[in-house]
Amino acid sequence: MRALPGPVANELLRLRSAGLAERHLHLEGAIRPATAVALAARWPSSLFPDGAAFRARRRFEDFRGFLTLYRDVCRLLRSPADYARVARDLTGRLRRERIVDAEVYVSPAVVERIGLDWVDVRDALEAVFAAHERRGGGRLAVLLDSVRQWGPEAAHRVLDLHERHPWSRAVGFGLGGDEAAVPASAFREVYRRLPRLGLAPLVHAGEWAGPESVAQALDALRPVRIAHGIRAAEDPALVRRLARLGTFLDVCLASNAATGAVADPSRHPVRRLLAAGVRVTLSTDDPGLFGTTLLGEYRRLARLGAGVGELRAVAAHARAAALVGGPSRHGSAGGSGRAARTRS
Ligand code: ADE
Ligand code: ZN
Repeated sequence: MRALPGPVANELLRLRSAGLAERHLHLEGAIRPATAVALAARWPSSLFPDGAAFRARRRFEDFRGFLTLYRDVCRLLRSPADYARVARDLTGRLRRERIVDAEVYVSPAVVERIGLDWVDVRDALEAVFAAHERRGGGRLAVLLDSVRQWGPEAAHRVLDLHERHPWSRAVGFGLGGDEAAVPASAFREVYRRLPRLGLAPLVHAGEWAGPESVAQALDALRPVRIAHGIRAAEDPALVRRLARLGTFLDVCLASNAATGAVADPSRHPVRRLLAAGVRVTLSTDDPGLFGTTLLGEYRRLARLGAGVGELRAVAAHARAAALVGGPSRHGSAGGSGRAARTRS
């Protein structure tokens, strides 16, 4: 592989030693292959007999293939202790990679689907996350999420749980899963509840569905950050709108390449979005499933031709995109903490 230009390589080293921020990664997707193998070994017909079998599943035919692997990983989790184990995989990775500020999607809807008690799981996760911070691992905030194809009732249920059992670590709420399954407008009432709960509005959009999915999400949900959002690049007016609003796009290059969200990874639109003034950040999405690291994401951007200025801009966007929880910080839909400085 061609070496990166010296100043770019030096900048990558500098960014890593300064400590990076990550805004888009999913707890279950941070599982290490060894953990997946160990958890699967408890069942007679092991899904992942060894690390090679797990890694082989990382080659996806399409997005459905990815969602199937994601579902299989979630099904391995049978107790709060299993969740804590995956959380330790995640915090270990944050420490190794010097990620000093992370916001992590945690899905109470999945926890309940598995048949576990949300409060038990939340307490198990809190113990791991608090220990990570106490040991100087950096800030770790939580983004509660629901699964788009499970509809608005499941999303309301997540907010009901948070209302009844508030988790001070939670600073945002988002939707993942199949963005084409249910239109954003169906979740309007769900998102209306967020300001009062002190949760910033986030959403996965423009990963699989086209620019209209991003536009609908902006219209109905007023997100401060969009997970992926890359298909917006197909609509110049929408790109201008994102730049004007200051909406962050939490882009994940290895994920997009692995799932086929971009047909040709060497022509990923990330640099065009940046050049148009969109506030792009970089993340790993599901590092355990895509075999990527946060610095690896920056390296991918550099391999797409990004220079020192672009790498610095992305790192600065990631810092600026931090959310701060608490109802007083969320005066109106679309307003949230530091990221609330964006207009929506
Ligand atoms: N959940 C975990 N990773 C996801 C992705 N890339 N898209 C949608 N939902 C997800
Ligand atoms: Zn995601």
